[in-house]
Amino acid sequence: MKSKITMPEIRNGTTYSQPSIFLCTLLCCWILVNPVRGYSLKKCTVRESLNDTNMKVICGKKNLQAIPEDIPRKVRSLDLSINNIVMIKTFDFKDLSALKSLNMSCNRISHVDDEAFSDLVVLQELNLANNRLNTLSDHLFQGLGNLSVLRLDHNHIKTISSSTFQNLFSLNVLNLTGNQLYVLKKVQTVLLFTHLQELYIASNGFTFFQSQDISNKSIGLRVLDLSQNPMRIFRITADVLPKLHYLNLSDSGQNGSMTWDVPDRSFLSNMKSLNLSGVHMSLKEMSVVLQSLNSSLSSLILSHLGEDRITALANIACHITTLTTLRLRYNNMRVVSEELLKSCTYLTKLDISHNALTHLSHQSFSSMKQLTTLDLSNNRLSSVPNATHNIQSLTILDLRYNTINKLGSFDFANLTGLTYLRLFHNEITDIKGTDFQDLQDLKLLDLGRNSIPSLRYVFKNCLQKLENLQLGGNMIRTIHKGDFESLQSLKTLILFDNRIDTVEDGAFQGLVNLKMLTLASNRMSQISIRATMFRGLTALESLDLSWNRIKYLHYGELKSPPFSLLPSLKILIVSAQHPFGMLNIPSNFLHGLTNLLAFSARSLNIKTFHPDTFNNTPQLWSLDISLNEFTALSKELFHPIPRLNRLYLSKAQLQSLDFLIGANLTQLSYLQVRKNDFTVVSETMIRSLPALVYLDLQDKTFTCDCSNAWFIQWVTTENQTQVVDAYDFTCNYPVSLGGTKLLDLDTHYCSVDIGFFYFISSTSLVLLTLLGSFIYHLLRWQVVYAYYLFQAYLYDTKRRNVRVIHQYDAFVSYNGHDEPWVLRELLPELEGNQGWKLCLHHRDFQPGKPIVDNITDAIYGSRKTICVISRHYLESEWCSREIQVASFRLFDEQKDVLILVFLEEVPDQQLSPFHRMRKLVKRHTYLSWPRAGEHTGVFWQKLRVALETRDCLAEENPILSGVDRK
Ligand SMILES: *[C@@H]1O[C@H](CO)[C@@H](O)[C@H](O)[C@H]1NC(C)=O
Ligand SMILES: *[C@@H]1O[C@H](CO)[C@@H](O)[C@H](O)[C@H]1NC(C)=O
Ligand SMILES: *[C@@H]1O[C@H](CO)[C@@H](O)[C@H](O)[C@H]1NC(C)=O
Ligand SMILES: *[C@@H]1O[C@H](CO)[C@@H](O)[C@H](O)[C@H]1NC(C)=O
Repeated sequence: MKSKITMPEIRNGTTYSQPSIFLCTLLCCWILVNPVRGYSLKKCTVRESLNDTNMKVICGKKNLQAIPEDIPRKVRSLDLSINNIVMIKTFDFKDLSALKSLNMSCNRISHVDDEAFSDLVVLQELNLANNRLNTLSDHLFQGLGNLSVLRLDHNHIKTISSSTFQNLFSLNVLNLTGNQLYVLKKVQTVLLFTHLQELYIASNGFTFFQSQDISNKSIGLRVLDLSQNPMRIFRITADVLPKLHYLNLSDSGQNGSMTWDVPDRSFLSNMKSLNLSGVHMSLKEMSVVLQSLNSSLSSLILSHLGEDRITALANIACHITTLTTLRLRYNNMRVVSEELLKSCTYLTKLDISHNALTHLSHQSFSSMKQLTTLDLSNNRLSSVPNATHNIQSLTILDLRYNTINKLGSFDFANLTGLTYLRLFHNEITDIKGTDFQDLQDLKLLDLGRNSIPSLRYVFKNCLQKLENLQLGGNMIRTIHKGDFESLQSLKTLILFDNRIDTVEDGAFQGLVNLKMLTLASNRMSQISIRATMFRGLTALESLDLSWNRIKYLHYGELKSPPFSLLPSLKILIVSAQHPFGMLNIPSNFLHGLTNLLAFSARSLNIKTFHPDTFNNTPQLWSLDISLNEFTALSKELFHPIPRLNRLYLSKAQLQSLDFLIGANLTQLSYLQVRKNDFTVVSETMIRSLPALVYLDLQDKTFTCDCSNAWFIQWVTTENQTQVVDAYDFTCNYPVSLGGTKLLDLDTHYCSVDIGFFYFISSTSLVLLTLLGSFIYHLLRWQVVYAYYLFQAYLYDTKRRNVRVIHQYDAFVSYNGHDEPWVLRELLPELEGNQGWKLCLHHRDFQPGKPIVDNITDAIYGSRKTICVISRHYLESEWCSREIQVASFRLFDEQKDVLILVFLEEVPDQQLSPFHRMRKLVKRHTYLSWPRAGEHTGVFWQKLRVALETRDCLAEENPILSGVDRK
């Protein structure tokens, strides 16, 4: 039911009318006893469906000052990061007993009430990083018995109470990085109470690390991050860290002089990984450290130390026989000499990325018989270094971000075990068939961001095991027939950002396993896109043709639909064609795609669809046609795709969503219609989408009147569908409500209007009818009299201002039946004998003038009105009217103008409707002809007296006073 009866008012407004307050109270009560809570949240968004056991609620970056109250109880993961929350209060997380992960990082929290988290009994991760906490009080983490990860990094923590961590039985990871603890003893309590595995206390101003400060018995800590502390000494004097696995001392120490004091080599006997990047230690001290760690260390990071130190330390490090991984990033190394890594015999992973290498000695890696991974990315190599040619154990070679401009035929000739070869972002202008011919096991070849112009004859009889070929960002123009012929294992082929305008028939022949092909951002036109070019891609599941130059001037059938040879295709993207969009999608464009699940056609400048467009894609599950110019869509378009689950229609200039009503989209669960032109969401539309779970109308404005009343009501109470950001929807109409929030409108007002309006009006109608017939039955005469009284009143008002000079002495009002008496008796006596000037209707009324006007003029034009009353007179309509007008003159001018002359005795009750007349009669102020009998002289005399009475107040001079008084 649509209704535009009234505008709703703003709930905070002040202009309630009395009845609406009453009705509103009624309805509010009705709503309060049904405390259903809508699924749409005021500030947050629910990810996953309502019934999902992993409900995530996202409230990040919402400028929140406090924790929202409407968080669903079933929430498992809650993100409140990047807001302006300053404190956490006791009841903020009441009842969220299913919560497992809570992220409150990047707020301004400086205070947390005691036991604020006590309801979060299953919480596993709590992130309070980047806040303003100062002190960790005793009962802060009360109840968090299942908490395993606690992040408190980057706060202002100075004090930790002794029992803060007492109940955190399950705590595994604690991050206190970037606080102001200064003294290590402050973290002792956490190690005392918990089974902590990882402790991050970087950047806390510690100047000493002494094992007795953290514990006096051995603890199970596996990871200890002490980086960026200005430590003077790192001292371990007892075996308190027997399980320590990873120690991070990067950037610690001060003035280049940190001391390492671990007298017993067995104390850190389990340490596998050590980070000494940028450590402030003397070279001598560092070599002592490295020499002392030869029992277990397998991974060593020596970054940010400078070329000189590396030159001095690398060999020492490599003497650690257990060492397998060495990272030497950011050391400004320009060359790798033959000597540098000579003793690194056991290395399997070597990372020299992010240096300034231009040259590597041929023998640099010759001692490394087990090297499998070599990272030389982000250097200045202009060719594949000879040093890599003979590392036969190598499986991963990373040469990204260098300046290699040419590949030599033997660069990879002996690297037969290579599986990953990354040459992304170099300056390669040419590749040849021989370049990769020996890479029998290669799975991934990344040649993206180079300047390769053609693939002709490159991939012939080689790379049979290649699964992933990345060629994005090159200068390829043409794909020739057979270019990829031998790549029978290829699953992913990336060709975006090239200059491809021609793809020959059979270009992808042989790619029988290809699942994903990306041809986005090339120069292909509607002419170059043909069915035959995709021949052989029988396994292809995903094809991206966005950002090309495909354009169709009309949507009529194509002679040869382009995708008819891609039976396995599940995803097709044709969005954003250049420069003016695709304009039309031909009716059989999707022919053959019987398994298509997702079709993306964003930003194509399409105005309308051919109704048969989706006839061939019965499985379609997701359709994105945002950023087009539809204004309207037909419901028939969707009939062939009843399985549609997701529909993206943002910025499509839609005037209305009514096409969804008959569209039969019974399985649609996700609808995104941001920024369109419709302003009303109707109930019928929503009801036609029974499976809708997620409705995204972000950044929309609405008409804020009762036409959206149902929608507002639905958003706030619906528990199956989430309307994202609903509480931020604003009004654009009426202008006076511009900027107001849609959900602040008082919709009860509207429902009252519809329901109560009909109720009240029909009730009133019934009551009036009853009353009317009742009155008519019992008080018929009174009603008739009242009616005349009213009419007379109207005439009188009309006459009121017209003061005529009296033309006549008396107007004689009589009925036709009594005319003989008037003419024979009254007229001769009054006009003849007494000399009055009378007004008689048959004689003096102006012909052609409406009779009512004549009557009124006659009465007002005469000083008196003589009513000749008989039974006929009382029954006559006109005569009654004459009496009424005269009565009103009496009211109006305060003059009694009536002279009643009864021609016969009239029973009282027949007079009764004529209230005023009855009153006069009761006062005996009337003349009676029958009673005059023989003495007509007295009768006429009385009449003369009555006519002579002039302009006096009625009360003082009752008209016929003294006349015929009994
Ligand atoms: C600890 O905090 C630092 C600083 O915020 C951060 O970079 C690091 O990733 C955190 N580590 C863990 C395991 O939380
Ligand atoms: C490949 O290795 C063989 C023997 O190990 C050697 O003779 C040959 O010269 C190497 N080829 C290149 C290009 O280094
Ligand atoms: C609507 O869909 C149902 C099943 O999803 C189907 O039975 C019915 O025929 C469809 N109606 C129209 C008009 O396509
Ligand atoms: C949703 O609301 C309906 C009534 O509107 C109620 O019957 C149903 O139990 C509610 N479902 C949930 C999951 O709250």
